[in-house]
Amino acid sequence: MEHEITLVVNGTARRVGVPARRLLSDCLRHDLGLTGTHVGCEHGVCGCCTVLLDGEPIRSCLTFAVSVDGAEITTVEGLGGEGAPSPGLRSAGSAATGATREGDGSRATEPASRSEAMSAVQRAFAECHGLQCGFCTPGFLCTVTALLRDNPAPTDEEVLEGISGNLCRCTGYQNIVKAVHRAAELLAEEA
Ligand code: FES
Ligand code: FES
Repeated sequence: MEHEITLVVNGTARRVGVPARRLLSDCLRHDLGLTGTHVGCEHGVCGCCTVLLDGEPIRSCLTFAVSVDGAEITTVEGLGGEGAPSPGLRSAGSAATGATREGDGSRATEPASRSEAMSAVQRAFAECHGLQCGFCTPGFLCTVTALLRDNPAPTDEEVLEGISGNLCRCTGYQNIVKAVHRAAELLAEEA
């Protein structure tokens, strides 16, 4: 049995039919085509699947899509440009646009456009080489976006605590920590 739910994903209302046990990570990737959200461990350990739910980082692999009906979701695709998150809102104001898609037993509406602009956090990760293979990066970017919103000038210790739920097998974390501090600088300049 399918359940019709509406998610406001990166500022656009998306209506989709999902089985009760459809994971949010699978809904985003397979039903809505937002494959920027990666899935690693699929049991809540690695943090690769982190997205923002009403502005707060969550593991999308541990979340049933039906349980967040009506919520505002920000994925890595929405961090930059016009898709930048508006944390804490359960917005219903964005109208769905585009054609209905059938497939995988689900239906979804396509967003009209996707901005290419990178956020300060994304630019800082690129500038500081805070990624190598990039598999963990979408999760880090979502986590760090929320971290810097709540703490615009974190110490090293606070950064390490803030990213402690995200695992990276490539970088050794040092450049990620540098990137978080650089992002804080960029955000302060933009303020
Ligand atoms: S894929 Fe969700 S925490 Fe690893
Ligand atoms: S950059 Fe490869 S896992 Fe983090």
